[in-house]
Amino acid sequence: MSKSVLLIIGGGIAAYKSLELIRLLKGRGIGVRAIMTKAAEEFVTPLSVASLSGEKVHSALFNLTDEVEMGHIELSRSADLVVVVPATADLMAKMAQGLASDLASTTLLATDKPVLIAPAMNVRMWLHAATRRNLATLKSDGIQVVGPNEGDMACGEFGPGRMAEPVEILNAIENLLSAAVKPLAGRKILITAGPTREPIDPVRYISNHSSGKQGYAIAEAAARMGADVTLVSGPVSLPKPFGVKVLDVQTADDMLAACEKALPVDVAIFAAAVADWKMAKPAAEKIKKSKPGETPSLSFVENPDILKTIATGNMRPQMVVGFAAETENVIDYAKIKLGKKSCDLIIANDVSEGVFGTNRNAVHLVSKSGVESWPEMSKAEVASRLLAHIAGLLK
Ligand code: CTP
Repeated sequence: MSKSVLLIIGGGIAAYKSLELIRLLKGRGIGVRAIMTKAAEEFVTPLSVASLSGEKVHSALFNLTDEVEMGHIELSRSADLVVVVPATADLMAKMAQGLASDLASTTLLATDKPVLIAPAMNVRMWLHAATRRNLATLKSDGIQVVGPNEGDMACGEFGPGRMAEPVEILNAIENLLSAAVKPLAGRKILITAGPTREPIDPVRYISNHSSGKQGYAIAEAAARMGADVTLVSGPVSLPKPFGVKVLDVQTADDMLAACEKALPVDVAIFAAAVADWKMAKPAAEKIKKSKPGETPSLSFVENPDILKTIATGNMRPQMVVGFAAETENVIDYAKIKLGKKSCDLIIANDVSEGVFGTNRNAVHLVSKSGVESWPEMSKAEVASRLLAHIAGLLK
């Protein structure tokens, strides 16, 4: 059965992002009904919201036509999830107090469905003791919170208070909507993702083109399926997946240390593109050009193999999954890596044709029991299918 959300749009500058969220939700086949506060109508028009959602927009508490068609109590229970976007300081205060002074606050008080809020406000308002108190109250009432992020704000200030991006809110929504199916509940999963960055001197480094997208999609899917997920991430520009513990690292040495700290786990999935070499001795100061035409000679040493270290260590997870990025003889090389790195499963892909940074992937699952090739699909689908496969193997 298709799922639906009741979107409560609050009156803040971030309200414009609710339009993009509606578009994303509809794209996923999730139904959207919207309520707008009076203040929200100053930022986006009910007509835009109605056009994108394909549903009538509700705003007034005492509207006879609305009450005849669908009473506000029924409206509050019509969806699988209630989402407040943006949750302004005012709306959060109303929710924490249990006020029912307009349709939005009344609906939030009357609902028996899970509620997710995406706060957005000026940094001073977000850090104010009153908002801290209200947030603590809402969390202890079981309200789910996504964001806010830190960044430049529409008011010209910098800091926490910027609303989570629509894709981050979508992830949180999908996560909560699929709460019933949790095949990985009670499992601890460690995932590495992204590139590593090995310093040459304080301003230069060597790295690679990994975007981290596949690893992040796996972390997100694992959390959605109920796992307790630690994501050890190299430098990427991706939003933090909802419900995932993220440890940010730069070098392979840092990544190994963070992984070892996360043990014991049931499953470890190594999706990071770890730099194979690091500088034997990174320069303490910036390397200067000396004579014209003279180039520095850099000497490298091998980085630790994180996957192999953990797969052969005394805290080996029950299941170890590696990736093999190859440009030729994909399956043969993957078979060699399976044994060489003591993995239970290798996800092999051909990176000769632009997989880095894209949203799609075609992979082969290589294990002792054989090879299973999947057709090209989105990285999100690869992630969901892979974790369903792992959940099956763990049983
Ligand atoms: N890996 C790792 N630590 C490293 C190198 C690789 O954990 N220092 C992991 C990757 O995350 C991936 C798998 O090992 O899961 C395979 O990585 P890949 O770079 O494809 O293989 P390499 O061992 O580097 O072999 P080659 O360079 O010969 O392809």
